[in-house]
Amino acid sequence: MLSETDFIANSISSDINQGIFTWSAPSNIALVKYWGKKQDQIPANPSISFTLNNCKTITKLGFSKRHFDKLSENNSTFSFDLLFEGKPKEEFKPKIQKFFERIEKYCPYLKNFHFTIDTQNTFPHSSGIASSASGMAALAMNIMSLEKELNPLMTEEYFYKKASFLARLGSGSACRSIKGNIVVWGEHQEIKESSDLFGVPFSSELHSVFNNYQDTILLVDKGEKQVSSTVGHDLMHNHPYAEQRFFQAPQNLSKLKLVLENGNLDEFIKIVESEALTLHAMMMTSMPYFILMKPNTLEILNKIWKYRNETKIPVCFTLDAGANVHVLYPEQYKNETLQFIKDELVGYCQNGQYICDEIGFGSQLILEN
Ligand code: DP6
Repeated sequence: MLSETDFIANSISSDINQGIFTWSAPSNIALVKYWGKKQDQIPANPSISFTLNNCKTITKLGFSKRHFDKLSENNSTFSFDLLFEGKPKEEFKPKIQKFFERIEKYCPYLKNFHFTIDTQNTFPHSSGIASSASGMAALAMNIMSLEKELNPLMTEEYFYKKASFLARLGSGSACRSIKGNIVVWGEHQEIKESSDLFGVPFSSELHSVFNNYQDTILLVDKGEKQVSSTVGHDLMHNHPYAEQRFFQAPQNLSKLKLVLENGNLDEFIKIVESEALTLHAMMMTSMPYFILMKPNTLEILNKIWKYRNETKIPVCFTLDAGANVHVLYPEQYKNETLQFIKDELVGYCQNGQYICDEIGFGSQLILEN
């Protein structure tokens, strides 16, 4: 079992002056939610997610060795430029600065390089789809590609585990966007190798009903969230229902593990919808309290319940920390469900917008040095 100190890079064996990598990393949608954390991005409970396929961030990382020959220069600061869709984006820099600070202990070589980080998303900007998971995951993959150049003997297993470990320090849910179609993050008795430090691919045999499982994301409200996830997580400290929630989540994960193996969709729906509503219940019962759902979110949930009742098609929803609705269903019901979405749900989406996605497999190397 790897521990935190195993992630400190201390055997740099190779020298490299410059290069470029490009990685893509997908977004993910949690089925059992991560909401509440301890120091250093350690989750208060284990979570599990579907990795998405189409919603992703593509990040190009250029790097060149810095030369500290002038007296005025020193290597006490990080040096990087940040571009979004090819144009400088100052607003994103503090996030990256903070990420570098958090991971420096594990990547002591960072200050030896100047970086150019050029990033873009495949989903519309400010669609309300969190880009922090895919963004931090894509950056972590690129950094690990650099580290592998510096330490060519690194194993593939270590490469992916450390990438997830670093991504977690950027944004907790990002550690579930590295590798695998279903990923568990957080220690759980019944899940081998599960860890609070990084995500691990769900290792049981998956029931075939979940192959190519569909996620149609209904964009209900694309505005800036009033409350960030980070603030929301914090409000789980001294939350009146926190203890019960941190007791419930691992139980839901146990139940979901069985369902993923046996394909019982009735159970799947119960666990997943209950998790989504519990997440929002935690927000409504924190102090200060807040509501991220919109009236149209509720309209959609009711329509989904009605449709499921009438047709017996196993369509369900989940929510993340926002107003958008993720509509989840097996691939075999794709045609009728998309028709239902077009006929009855699109009217509740902002500008009629929605995104068709499905389970994917994680980050991908697009350009090697
Ligand atoms: C509701 O990973 O965005 O999507 O660790 O503070 O960056 P930070 O939070 P973040 O929280 C995600 C919360 C969630 C549930 C989930 O993805 O499990």
